[in-house]
Amino acid sequence: MYSIETKSLTKSFGDLTAVNDISFSVEKGEIFGFLGPNGAGKSTTMMIFTTLLKPTSGKALIAGFDVMKDAKHVRENIGFVQQETTVDEYLTGRENLLLQAKLNHIPKNEINTRIDEVLELIELSDKQHQAVVTYSGGMRKRLTLLEAFCIIQKSCSLMNLPLDWIFKLEEKFGSILKKSILNLT
Ligand SMILES: Nc1ncnc2c1ncn2[C@@H]1O[C@H](COP(=O)(O)OP(=O)(O)OP(=O)(O)O)[C@@H](O)[C@H]1O
Ligand SMILES: [Mg+2]
Repeated sequence: MYSIETKSLTKSFGDLTAVNDISFSVEKGEIFGFLGPNGAGKSTTMMIFTTLLKPTSGKALIAGFDVMKDAKHVRENIGFVQQETTVDEYLTGRENLLLQAKLNHIPKNEINTRIDEVLELIELSDKQHQAVVTYSGGMRKRLTLLEAFCIIQKSCSLMNLPLDWIFKLEEKFGSILKKSILNLT
């Protein structure tokens, strides 16, 4: 079974074809980069994968579940980091991570250990109880990367991030990331 499978996936907004007949599959445990210039249709495709948009035609299966027919199971199997920064400025760093972990159904007994580990790794432990509104731009970016890390153990983790952020993620979390992915296979 594939982690992601699309067949002739197409999405139009009126006259504009945002996603034009794409077919590909991603193996479980595979790291798959989905690149393209601005407006190429990447976010639209991810919105379909997360059941937030319906395709105009074609198919998309996530962890074997059809996004059109079985949205509930699709949502249970994905973790999603949106393109837009999703940190809440009025929550503390730790509260933001807790929220993401809960929204993504990380097992309760793993949440605190996981958050402690990643906060230390990215050197935000000392700021964790401060509201994000007091963080610098770079610190906010690091927090978003941590949110991404919180969801990495879902069977299908979708990260709609700029390439330089992905490189940052690799630089900071590379070895742990690989270990987590290997554990999934
Ligand atoms: N809700 C919408 N209604 C109409 N057009 C839309 C809508 N959402 C996206 N589009 C259009 O669909 C095309 C693909 O947009 P999309 O956001 O998927 O691109 P992208 O590859 O994610 O780009 P970026 O790299 O800038 O994030 C663009 O031309 C965009 O203007
Ligand atoms: Mg986009």
